[in-house]
Amino acid sequence: MSARFIKISLAYLVLGASLGIYMGLSQDFTLMPVHAHILLAGWLTLAMAGVIYRLHPEAAGTRLAQAHFWLHNLGLPVFMAGLALMLSGRANLPPVIGTGAIALLVGFVCLALNLWRRI
Ligand code: HEM
Ligand code: HEM
Repeated sequence: MSARFIKISLAYLVLGASLGIYMGLSQDFTLMPVHAHILLAGWLTLAMAGVIYRLHPEAAGTRLAQAHFWLHNLGLPVFMAGLALMLSGRANLPPVIGTGAIALLVGFVCLALNLWRRI
């Protein structure tokens, strides 16, 4: 479980940093909130969950940990794709952004409940 969280967090690190390079090279900062959340809600939050599960294996492998993993990794890409389309003026899809963000939030609640109960 810990390795799964850390490995997927690295995909967000590479993606978010690539977007940062693109923003710097193009001097176009339209997608800055996407960059910030891919890195903070993707890389840092998932890597931190992975480290916490390594420190507290009693909390890893539970149904709440599984639910957090999937809600986070389905919700965040939907949230970020919807936000990127909106910020770049390609499509305005508030229900898509909202659904992704709420899935992410429910994932955080699963993480919190899991850690409160098990640690
Ligand atoms: C190759 C690596 C990276 C590059 C080239 C890069 C580039 C940038 C650029 C150009 C901005 C916009 C700055 C502005 O408009 O003032 C920015 C903002 C930001 N970056 Fe990165 N970044 C990188 C890595 C990271 C990492 C690893 C994190 C977090 C773990 C991060 C978090 C943020 C945040 C939170 C903001 C928004 C700051 C604010 O609200 O003013 N970045 N980055
Ligand atoms: C359900 C999850 C989340 C939602 C809906 C959300 C929403 C937002 C919104 C609406 C803003 C203002 C953006 C703007 O002014 O353009 C923002 C900014 C920010 N959020 Fe989040 N956020 C979430 C999760 C997180 C997490 C988990 C972190 C850090 C671990 C984080 C870090 C930040 C930072 C650093 C900023 C300021 C940088 C920026 O302007 O892009 N957020 N967030």
